[in-house]
Amino acid sequence: MTAVISHWSQENQSAAKSILDRYPEKRSALMPLLYVASLEHEYASDDAMREVASLTGISAAQVLSVASFYTMFKAVPVGRYLISVCTSVVCYLNNADEVLEAVEGTTGVDSGGITHDGAISVERVECIGACGGAPAVQVNYETVEGLTREKAEALVNWLRDAKPPVVLADEMQQLFGGQRSFDWGPMDPDGAVRPIPAFGPYGSVEEGR
Ligand code: FES
Repeated sequence: MTAVISHWSQENQSAAKSILDRYPEKRSALMPLLYVASLEHEYASDDAMREVASLTGISAAQVLSVASFYTMFKAVPVGRYLISVCTSVVCYLNNADEVLEAVEGTTGVDSGGITHDGAISVERVECIGACGGAPAVQVNYETVEGLTREKAEALVNWLRDAKPPVVLADEMQQLFGGQRSFDWGPMDPDGAVRPIPAFGPYGSVEEGR
């Protein structure tokens, strides 16, 4: 019979059971179970990792080694909005330090922290794959590119005041972004410059595609 964690919500118990049923080797279910445990505990807490260890039959240390490798598993509680500021080399050379300073100053928390009301978390991250639009930032993993100190401050104030229920890359880009990775493109014979067709704007999905 599949093991369950009896104090988890019914919904999370069912999710865990269905995940475990899919894997003959229980340890292979580690990552999806960590996700469910993080939902239950609101982050990958020590208890969450111990519970995943008991479900998979591996040690808590092994669970920790996976959870600490993948940065999307959080070892501390995270706010409703997670602002991830890229400070890798291309963004760094394009004033990412000013963007990070603006985000930290406007939220009042250092990287790795969370605001008192639990609304906003700030973190410094490695390259998020938007080097062409550096400096780049993500909010809840939606990317906005070409930020400046002023735009970063405006972005934080918008999150705090408007409290958008859903954060979308295209909307943030329009409101607070600048140069983005694929605004530029090859010039057509008629002189028009268009985005490279293979790369639509981040976060956009055309119907029927
Ligand atoms: S270095 Fe910042 S997105 Fe690549």
